[in-house]
Amino acid sequence: MTIEDRDEASVVTHALARDELSNLRDVETEQVAFRKGLVRLGRICGYEIIDGRMETEYVSIQTPLTDTMGERVKGLDDVVIVNVLRAATPFVEGLLKAFPRARQGVISASRDEEAGMTEDGSFPITVDYVKLPEIRPEDTVIVADPMLATGSTMEAVLEEILSGPEPEDLIVLSAVAAPPGLVRLNEAFPDVELLTVSIDEKLDDDGYIVPGLGDAGDRAFRTT
Ligand code: URA
Repeated sequence: MTIEDRDEASVVTHALARDELSNLRDVETEQVAFRKGLVRLGRICGYEIIDGRMETEYVSIQTPLTDTMGERVKGLDDVVIVNVLRAATPFVEGLLKAFPRARQGVISASRDEEAGMTEDGSFPITVDYVKLPEIRPEDTVIVADPMLATGSTMEAVLEEILSGPEPEDLIVLSAVAAPPGLVRLNEAFPDVELLTVSIDEKLDDDGYIVPGLGDAGDRAFRTT
């Protein structure tokens, strides 16, 4: 099993995930390599979610030679992936390789960088687009955002998702998470699983994760 349960979050510890994250952190990794790295990391995390969080069942199979027993993953048709625009787009592309039949939602939520971080360590958040598929009680919902910093954006996103019926499993998946964001979400949503590849040290005064990897959206979309 390469998901470890820690106090603040569950951590994907697969060696390839750590390898991909090191490439993403490297300031020398340029846009195309960065975007492809996020895709690969999304795929690895998807496989780890299947291995660590989903059940399998035994089924009888007819091979060209004989009857035998095989194993299938249960619930692959009951997966919803929510793309938190925009940095999650390549991350979601990778997740979809593990969950090709997932239903998809999109939420555009962004923090007001100009307003700056408030004293309680949050940002004002604007949610300007929400399009979610029907979420059913038996669903596993994976909300993807590579960077979980203050947790303010994700708090707004989860409020949107939980304004409807609650799914059986709700997982917030990030590549890098900072302790203040994990504390905020654990307090506000104790039943939501926080899954990440790395719990980093801290946030800087502008709300960026340190050591982090910089602005994931800008690096993936080359907008600086
Ligand atoms: N968003 C990013 O892209 N990077 C951070 O460090 C924090 C939020």
